[in-house]
Amino acid sequence: METGFNKLPRHLAIIMDGNGRWAQRRSLPRVEGHRKGAEAVRRVVRACRKWGIKVLTLYAFSLENWQRPKEEVDALMDLLVEFLQSEKQEMVENGISLRVIGRPEDLPSHIQRILAETIEATSQNGKMILNLALSYSGRSEILRAFERYLKDARQKGVEPGGLTEEVFSSYLDTDGLPEPDLLIRTSGEQRISNFLLWQMAYTEIYFTETLWPDFTEEELAEAIKDYGRRERRFGRIPRQAASCGEV
Ligand code: FPP
Repeated sequence: METGFNKLPRHLAIIMDGNGRWAQRRSLPRVEGHRKGAEAVRRVVRACRKWGIKVLTLYAFSLENWQRPKEEVDALMDLLVEFLQSEKQEMVENGISLRVIGRPEDLPSHIQRILAETIEATSQNGKMILNLALSYSGRSEILRAFERYLKDARQKGVEPGGLTEEVFSSYLDTDGLPEPDLLIRTSGEQRISNFLLWQMAYTEIYFTETLWPDFTEEELAEAIKDYGRRERRFGRIPRQAASCGEV
């Protein structure tokens, strides 16, 4: 596929929405939508790796998703295990390292084990980071970061008042990652849904009506091309933004 990107996001984040509706429209159980959704995950990971995107963050399971029927939660957990087992070798071979944000400690212990093993097996890989948001909520992440900061500050005897955005960012789950340049949300919903609230201060957003299981490499390329036409100013005027290479 001829892509011809003039600018690639360094960090792409995706809210993979619409699995349930995809299944509903076919009179299938919701789980079938998630199964197809997992195939879309594989397509997108491969495309991002091929094009040289450095960080891909996927909203795979939110803290709020625990409230879904047990059967659906169990099916999502099974799909996650299947994905990790089937992709581990390919991730190792293709230089992809796995990372997790959120509260993986909420997941069943056998999944925590597989996650830890995959993270360990891929930790030396430097081509791309696949960052899975699991049991993730942006507000909860910010609170956890603040609690960690307070604990540290107390231990070190730091006076309150000097906290900078940079220092605070280092207490977030995304410590060390660039902020997302582009967020894609599928299925026509136009919301952030508690995803990367701190990190998305200046993220470009691309909404599409396509349901996640139908999301293709071609549409991902479209979204990236659209991103390439955006003028990012970070609160400055165009001339200033251009001079620091952000346009
Ligand atoms: C939103 O669709 C999607 C989810 C809550 C889960 C996303 C999970 C996958 C794409 C598959 C497994 C993930 C991996 C990483 C292998 P929805 O169910 O809210 O759809 P709806 O709004 O149409 O009901």
